[in-house]
This record gives sequence, C-alpha cells and structure tokens, in this order.
Amino acid sequence: MAASMNTAGEENILRDIKNQFFEMVPIRRMKWKTTHSDEDVSPDMQRAVLKATVQHATCKQYPPSLNYQRAFVKSILHKLEDIDADICDEIYETYSDLLQQKEEEDDTLCYKTYTLPCGNTISLQESVHLISQGTTGLSTWQAALNLAEWCMENSTFLKNKRVMELGSGLGLTGITVCKNNQMKSYTFSDCHPQVMYLLMRNIETNLAEQSSQTVFTPPDVFPSSSKQCPEKKDGRMIKSIRRQLSTNTEASNPCSVSMCSDIMEISYTSTASSSYDDTEDMFSDSADFQIESQNWVMDDCLPGMYCFCQDERIRLMKYDWETSDDRVLWDIAPDVILAADVVYDVSIMPALVSVLRKLLSLEMECGQRATAVIASTIRNEDTRDHFLIVLANEGLTYEIVDSPTKRIFHYEDTIPIEILKIRCPAAS
Ligand SMILES: C[S@@+](CC[C@H](N)C(=O)[O-])C[C@H]1O[C@@H](n2cnc3c(N)ncnc32)[C@H](O)[C@@H]1O
Repeated sequence: MAASMNTAGEENILRDIKNQFFEMVPIRRMKWKTTHSDEDVSPDMQRAVLKATVQHATCKQYPPSLNYQRAFVKSILHKLEDIDADICDEIYETYSDLLQQKEEEDDTLCYKTYTLPCGNTISLQESVHLISQGTTGLSTWQAALNLAEWCMENSTFLKNKRVMELGSGLGLTGITVCKNNQMKSYTFSDCHPQVMYLLMRNIETNLAEQSSQTVFTPPDVFPSSSKQCPEKKDGRMIKSIRRQLSTNTEASNPCSVSMCSDIMEISYTSTASSSYDDTEDMFSDSADFQIESQNWVMDDCLPGMYCFCQDERIRLMKYDWETSDDRVLWDIAPDVILAADVVYDVSIMPALVSVLRKLLSLEMECGQRATAVIASTIRNEDTRDHFLIVLANEGLTYEIVDSPTKRIFHYEDTIPIEILKIRCPAAS
C-alpha cells in the first residue's frame, strides 16, 4: 500500500471494497465506505483500490468475470468524474487493458472469493447466472451464506458431529464449516452432474491439506464411459459447462425450470434449454457420473460416495432425494443435517421431507436423534407454509432459530432468510 494509505479507516475501506469485489457484489449494490476526507479519492487511494482488486494476485488466480471487472473499474471512473477528482493514469490504463482482454468463451463461469473473519478465503467456481442448465445449483445463494454465518457462530452445535448437507450446490456452506468447525465428518451431497463436478473442484481448491491458495492438479471426473487423459478431460469438462451455459443464455425455455417457481420469481437470468443437444456434451448421461480422480476414493460399501484423500472427514455423494436408495442414509447416520435454499419448489418437497424424516428418525448409539438446520430465503410465504405443512404431515417438529448476529458476507438482505431447526420426536 502507498505510504499515505495506512490509516485504519482507509485500510477498512480497502478491505471492504476488496471483499465486495471478489464476491462479485452487483456494482449497483456495492457500498463504498468513506472516511469523509479528501484522501478517499486521492490518486494514492485510487492505486490502492486497483491493487486490492483487479491487480490483486487473487484476481489472476481466481478471476471474477471479465465483464464484472470492467464494470467495476468503469464505475470507479464515473464516480471520480462525477466529483471532478484527479484521476490517476492507472485507472484509464487498467480499464483499457480490461477492454482489450479477450473473454474466455462467454464469460459464463467465473470465480467468487469469500473472505472469512480469520482472513482465510474460499474461492468458488460459479456460473454468472442464477439458473442455468435447468438447475439452481451453479451459483451460491444468499441462504448458503447466511447458514455459513450461523454455523460459524454456533460452532459448539457442530463440534464432533457427523454432518450431512443436502443440496450442497457449489459448497459454500460446507467448505466454510470444514474450514472453521471441528466436526467429525462432513458429507456434501447434490444430484445434478454439473453441480457435482464444480462442487468437487471447489472442495479440492479450498480444502486440500497444503493450502487453499495453491494451484491443484486438475482432477479427473468423468462419466465412466469416457476414457481420455486427465488434463484434457478436465479442460473439456469446463469447456462443456461453459458452452452449455452460454447456449442457455441464448435459448430461453422457462418451461423447463417452471418447477423452481419460487426462485423463478426473483431470477432475471432464467434460461435453461432442455432441448440442448450436443453429442460432445460431457454431461449428457447424468445417471452415469463417476469420479475417477486420485484425490477421491470411492467408498466400497456406499454406492455413489467418495472420500476426499486430503482429509478423510470429507465426503462427497451424489444423492437425489427422489430416486436415490434410502439405505445409504442409515450408513451415513448424520447427527446434523444442513441445507440451504432447498425449499423453493413445491413439487420436490414431499421427497425432500421424506429424506429428512428418514434421517431424523434414526436412533444414534447414544439414543439421540439428529437435528436438521435448514436456511431458506422466504421469497414466497405460501411456499414456506406449504413446507411447514409437509413437515407436520411427516410428524416432524420445527423451531425458528435466531439469525446470525454478525454479517460476514455481502449478500442481498431485502428478502428475509429464516433458519429452522427440525427434529423428529421419539414415539412415546
Ligand atoms: C437453490 S440451490 C441451493 C444450493 C446451495 N445450497 C446454495 O444455497 O447455494 C438448490 C440445490 O438443490 C439441489 N437439488 C434440487 N433437487 C434435488 C434433488 N432432487 N436431490 C438432490 N439435490 C437436489 C440442486 O442441484 C441445487 O444444488
């Protein structure tokens, strides 16, 4: 940082801008703190902002989308022009460099980096669209961030527990828990093949033993029928996801995602093409999805379950609430079930709640039963009420728990997020 950039207030401003930038907070929602001094817009401060964001090493290793980087620098330019401030050359140069950079494919996959209070970061590869490929799982939702904050504040609740997460998506909640909490084990699960693929990569990027910030060897995850060398496969895998995501932005077919009715209400990028047909599509056979990576070992006893070699507490499982075999749940026997933003689709609720009931009614060795903690964004009261009715019909009880007191991440909070603890009372 420049010599004059060392007051606590300025450092605070920079940290806040940096965190918002790497989380890719929409530019219109970005909050710029101020020390109310001229230093806020001085050329030194402008350089410091560039260094903390677009010129930062994280931006090279885990780049936010190029469009976002451009919009960010452009917004700084506009802000400075509006107040007639002295604009340093680096701002113009950086903006011009960004304009000249070629977008990789369609800029549909990017990294978002979330900073934890201890300073550690979590970098997740995500889609820039909320709904893509007919799934909501390719981006991180507010409830996942809220639940991660809750878990950080309730570390004793998770201590030495076997945790299973349903509908993990890209893994933000679970990766935060694995970094912060001393749980006995953590099983990530989801059903969508592309979500599973990015989830696996995100776990490797962030939870590999050595360091979350080191470059990892490309994994080798593939539909089992495909036989190619690992690096090529990995590149093709990402290319395949990118290509499908960009196709989806062009072809809009709301019918194919109409089931996600609740989420559709707030999605401005709704685009899934169920008719997309490409013989090169690596994910065309979603049922046939296997990890063939040296970083993961298949569990011989549990079908679809993989153990992470770098940390044996971490497991990843393809589990579909509607079609997967229940028996695997008895083998996992979690003490705690976590899920974020899985209550949005009325049609899937019976299957989800049935899985919850099976997990919550298992008697542990100690005679105790598990507890589920579900965080939901309440976009639609009817959807939430319907969920509560389905819970009651399955004999499950719930309580609303206190929201996390401290905001760590920068997500939209105009729509309330509710966290429920759900249990299955023992028969008297
Ligand atoms: C709205 S996303 C939430 C993802 C993540 N928990 C978050 O909050 O960022 C819902 C997730 O549930 C998963 N999901 C939907 N239906 C499912 C099913 N039948 N079985 C398992 N997972 C499912 C989706 O693949 C997706 O990852």
